[in-house]
Amino acid sequence: MAKKKITVVGAGNVGATTAQLLAYKKLGHVYLVDVAEGIPHGKALDLMESAPLENFDSRIVGLNSYEETAGSDIVIVTAGLARRPGMTREDLRDKNAEIMKTVAEQVAHYSPNCFMIVVTNPVDTMTYVAKKYSGLGKHRIVGMAGVLDSTRFRSFISMELGVSNEDVHATVLGLHGEDMVPMPRFSSVAGIPLTELMSAEKINELVERTKHGGAEIVQLLKTGSAFYAPASSVVNMVESIVLEKNRIVPAAAYLEGEYGLDGIFMGVPVLLNWSGVAKIIELPLTAEESAALNKSAQGVLESVSHLKV
Ligand code: 2OP
Repeated sequence: MAKKKITVVGAGNVGATTAQLLAYKKLGHVYLVDVAEGIPHGKALDLMESAPLENFDSRIVGLNSYEETAGSDIVIVTAGLARRPGMTREDLRDKNAEIMKTVAEQVAHYSPNCFMIVVTNPVDTMTYVAKKYSGLGKHRIVGMAGVLDSTRFRSFISMELGVSNEDVHATVLGLHGEDMVPMPRFSSVAGIPLTELMSAEKINELVERTKHGGAEIVQLLKTGSAFYAPASSVVNMVESIVLEKNRIVPAAAYLEGEYGLDGIFMGVPVLLNWSGVAKIIELPLTAEESAALNKSAQGVLESVSHLKV
């Protein structure tokens, strides 16, 4: 099978780590694009020099423009500013929206049939901007946040119970921000509902830690935000697409009536395969869960209403 062509826009920590994982997992040729001179080229060359040891044959190419990315199968957009301590993801909105507009136009021009995964924050809003300026259909574009928030919840559950991550499933829906909606009722360990394994207080503690998971890392790093878990989350989604796994993962999908919401991107369970977002799964929610998801949606609507692009 011919190797897939995967473009990663943004050669910062998330972009470069994503490129590394894509190469090490042999998911395709990687084109790393960034406006900074030398950075994408240097990181791409450094990665290529690890190929004999990591045993991969794909190309990793560093670029300052999009011509060579033409015909990409998958485009991952990580370009933009990252948070520093004291900032919310919303503080990045206006600057990153401008960057996203330019990127989306370029991607649409060179890779009109790609599947796009947006990572730039605030991700639900940036995915909306990317759709608007790329013209990609709703099945061909998602925002990555749900996998990251769920993997954080999973890791906290696993650490708390002292059980293998392999056995832990967790679901986090809604926007990628403090009003995200971790779903203990749809989280389990080896098939056992989480609610049977932990007290409500302990679950609440882990839910709160998950909601502030990104900020916890920003506080520690001080100079930027998380990148290992975000990059792993993106690559996990790429695997589902490239390897036709049909996985169901939470991701910011374009909603047209699902969950009673319309015209926004927000985290919901989606089925991912080579066709892209093949399906949105609608979970039966309690009144409390529904209210929390609606609050999340209000946050996204509010953010989108402030867009200047
Ligand atoms: C995070 O939650 C960067 O938003 C990302 O760490």
